[in-house]
Amino acid sequence: MNQAYEASPLAVVPESSPSASAEPCVVVIFGASGDLTHRKLIPSLFDLHRSGALPDKTIVLGVSRTPMSDENFREKLSPSVKKFSAVASESSGGGWNAAAQSAWESFARRVHYFAADAASPDSALAIAEAVNDLGRRAGMCKGGAGAGSPNVLFYLSVSPDLYEPIITIIGASGLVTEGKRWCSLNPADSAWQRIIIEKPFGVDTASAASLNRTLGRVFEEEAIFRIDHYLGKELVQNILVMRFANAIFEPIWNRQHVDHVQVTAAETVGVGSRAANYYDSGAGGALRDMVQSHLLQVLALVAIEPPSVFDASAIMREKIKLFNTAAMIPIDQAHEHAVVGRYGVANGEPAYVEETGVDPARNTETFAAIRLMFDNWRWNGVPFYLRSGKRMAAKLTEVVVQFKQPPTNMFRVLGGDTIGRPPNRIVINIAPTEGISIRIEGKIPGSGLRMASAKLDLDYQRSFGGEQIEAYGPLILDAMRGDRTLYKHREEVESSWRICEPFLRSQRLRKAIREYPSGSWGPAESEAMLVREGRAWHNPNADEVR
Ligand code: BG6
Repeated sequence: MNQAYEASPLAVVPESSPSASAEPCVVVIFGASGDLTHRKLIPSLFDLHRSGALPDKTIVLGVSRTPMSDENFREKLSPSVKKFSAVASESSGGGWNAAAQSAWESFARRVHYFAADAASPDSALAIAEAVNDLGRRAGMCKGGAGAGSPNVLFYLSVSPDLYEPIITIIGASGLVTEGKRWCSLNPADSAWQRIIIEKPFGVDTASAASLNRTLGRVFEEEAIFRIDHYLGKELVQNILVMRFANAIFEPIWNRQHVDHVQVTAAETVGVGSRAANYYDSGAGGALRDMVQSHLLQVLALVAIEPPSVFDASAIMREKIKLFNTAAMIPIDQAHEHAVVGRYGVANGEPAYVEETGVDPARNTETFAAIRLMFDNWRWNGVPFYLRSGKRMAAKLTEVVVQFKQPPTNMFRVLGGDTIGRPPNRIVINIAPTEGISIRIEGKIPGSGLRMASAKLDLDYQRSFGGEQIEAYGPLILDAMRGDRTLYKHREEVESSWRICEPFLRSQRLRKAIREYPSGSWGPAESEAMLVREGRAWHNPNADEVR
């Protein structure tokens, strides 16, 4: 056999690749009584269990302060699972039936509870004992380093001010034994410890860096999973497939052909009960809550250079490279590149400033639109407009890539509707449904040359089948596999804060906050920001939103 064609060591599937298998572990959820645990984490873990994807022996341990037995905890979770797991939305499966009930009963046996103040140093050893005991009873403990310990996946689903104290406690518990995976341990026979950490990851660059340092004192970077549930959405991942598994898009995906890019994440709901303890607390606001995290991640997948291979480090490297080329906007010019707003009253619903716990003088924004540029060969001169808001006209997340006009309009001599035709654009619908449409110009059949725009439409579910997934389950499974492809690297998070920092710090921008009518597309100034540059936001009617 020709030596040149033998598998080289580089071809060996790395341990943390998308194809590595998930290993059983104890999933320790800090914040077990919280909303996220009830609405997302437990229902997603249940869905994984029901579909057979949750590795055998895996155990869930909820930790929070309220004293409660395992049985009480399971009883409290049961209504949430019925309401929020995939079963609830399965129209064909007839909802919660005997099979779902029996799946719940077997899943519930895997769920345990431990009452502790996880931020108190007194809890460290007790938590470690509870985890090791469960691991032993499930027959999950490994030999090697940290003998007698199971694999552990910590999940921080607590208020962000508890992140650093809890990470310190995890460090003190002695549970994290993984150490320098590179050099000292044989990963196959020693237990691993990983941590998933929720957003908000800091409130600015400095606090994100401090959190990263605290994490780094306890965990290796490879063991840290900074979650962004947008990266678990089908179509977000699909952006990479669309761009790099097809040859027709990349040649035009650059400054020569693209006029500008828009990323919109609009919601119809208001801030509601989260106003007091999150949104208006200094950690929230549309810039921190949506733009810094979700929108920049979506933008990154649209704008990165082709990664050398589909794996975590190659993709992370490209995202970091992209973020580092963002043109830095001086704070005293930030107001020229952004618009912030907050929603007014609608149909008996309060305006943002009337929501319980809101201090109007903080000027927290429920809407933000920003304009970014990237100083690199591909995108120099192409504006990226990002916007997100609550109580908007429709619930939708989409990317619009708008192309330049043809270099010349040879039809202009005909006059009429052949003058000033709209340019091509690709709309990537991420939510509520997943699809891609391309606007093209065509001739209306009949005599005479009349033109109209039409859409080439691809609906992913209709074309490819498959099921829509809840983002959390697959992301948790990835963490069990050690696959960080859909998670964020330390530097990505810090650079995305740096990009947002001028907008967060500009007093001039904050003072210019505008009230916008609920059910609209945000303040008129946001439209004006694009109109000034001869462009317009893509504002589909609610009935156009697929
Ligand atoms: C969360 C934000 O991260 O994302 C919320 O904190 C927002 O404010 C939510 O409502 C939106 O997620 P989705 O998946 O409904 O677009």
